Amino acid sequence: MRTDTHHLTAARVTATPRITVVGTGYLGATHAICMAQLGYEVLGVDVDTAKIDALRSGRVPFHEPGLPEALDQAMSTGRLDFTTDFSRAAQFGDIHFLCVGTPQKPGSQAADLRFVEAAATQLAAQITGPALIVGKSTVPVGTAAMLRERVRTLSPAGRALDLAWNPEFLREGFAVQDTLHPDRLVFGVASTWAEQVLRGVYRPILEEGTPVVVSDLATSELVKVAANSFLATKISYINAMAEVCEAVDADVGDLARALAHDDRIGGRFLRPGLGFGGGCLPKDIRAFQHRARELGAGAAVRFLEDVDAINARRRSRTVELVRELAGGSLLGVRIAALGAAFKPDSDDVRDSPALDVAHRLHREGADVVVYDPEAAENAHRVHPDLPLAASLTEAMRGAQVTVLLTEWDEFREARPESLAALVAEPRVLDARDALDARGYTRAGWAYRTLGRPFAPVPSAAHPTSAAVAVREEELELCTAAAEDAEPVPLPAEP
Ligand code: UDX
Repeated sequence: MRTDTHHLTAARVTATPRITVVGTGYLGATHAICMAQLGYEVLGVDVDTAKIDALRSGRVPFHEPGLPEALDQAMSTGRLDFTTDFSRAAQFGDIHFLCVGTPQKPGSQAADLRFVEAAATQLAAQITGPALIVGKSTVPVGTAAMLRERVRTLSPAGRALDLAWNPEFLREGFAVQDTLHPDRLVFGVASTWAEQVLRGVYRPILEEGTPVVVSDLATSELVKVAANSFLATKISYINAMAEVCEAVDADVGDLARALAHDDRIGGRFLRPGLGFGGGCLPKDIRAFQHRARELGAGAAVRFLEDVDAINARRRSRTVELVRELAGGSLLGVRIAALGAAFKPDSDDVRDSPALDVAHRLHREGADVVVYDPEAAENAHRVHPDLPLAASLTEAMRGAQVTVLLTEWDEFREARPESLAALVAEPRVLDARDALDARGYTRAGWAYRTLGRPFAPVPSAAHPTSAAVAVREEELELCTAAAEDAEPVPLPAEP
């Protein structure tokens, strides 16, 4: 390991480092706020004046439970500030965390590194003393080594400037918890000095017993994409099983529960349904394939093509099932689409399966009304043509088919009897396998989900009590075996 950064500088930066966080999106804003909560002086930097203005005035510009309170607390200590001024940041910080986005390049599977390169070089050009740049963004393997050379070459600080990689695993909806109490920390370093600096800045978290893996730059970059590929594969695996179940009228819910009993498999990320989306998993598995092909290792991750394809097929299948529930045609059918965010407790609609399905139904001529408790504004920005409701009640009123696309608590907790009173036809597709199937069936709904046998659609507008009784009987049969066994719920996503 190289130790060419001057020893005296190590002491200075390790003692009471001042921190900058470049990029105040999801990851960066959370990181900046949490670092201030740990007691550091922190400066958040972004080119987006609107974001910086919002944060400076104490407002988090996206939905994340617990973050507004954490921002309030951090601001009240006087240790946290935000700026658009890179030279101020370069002078202020001893440790500069890079938290800018690495989106998918338009028309390619590759990651777009423009922002991360710009942030690193802009800072480096103005850093004059010993400092550590720490990349947290998800990047193709090899990026960190390339950036390290580049920043050291162009910075007036020269070799007193080092660069390390410290991938971030936070989940939206649990960002504060995941940042302050992560499962593990990963330090990708090219010098012992960088390792010391990272151990120093994360001391409060390490003292909690958080495991740390110290490795080289390339491995640390790979850890992140390997983790996200694994999670995506697990989700697509159970969704592939759902496809097979659909072919033979088997029950993927029971199948998943049975698999989850095996500790080696485990139940997390084994929830069948509409599949994954968001700003990370989809683009990360694509960028990984692209980078692996560049490196001549494309064959090793070719299976990710299937993972992506299975995921895409769930969306088409959902549209198909809604069409079936509607009686064969979507034209003019009033549909209540519940959810637009890619998952609950988030207002993020990037590559959202929910929004995608709602929009496809709309394009196919259905009279879709979307309701999401938090993501309406973002959904409107992406698809201004998609009608939005201001409440669950408004979305449901007069619906001929209801489709649950994002498993918000508001939807899970709504009483099926009350909802049945609002709709024109009590037909629901639970595309997230999140509703109480028995409760819905009892309340007279034709309940359907992906990868499971289903009760027939009632022929009358509202089912007769006899039809409901038949469906209940069928359901008892389906669930009897499961009830005999000791219940092993799929662990809910934390
Ligand atoms: C993910 C990773 O979990 C996180 O470690 C990484 O840092 C960033 O990417 P996030 O994008 O917040 O986090 O979402 P995550 O909770 O992983 O969910 C991803 C998608 O998978 C969501 O669309 C979710 O609905 C879906 N999902 C999850 C399933 O379809 N089935 C499951 O069983 C679990």
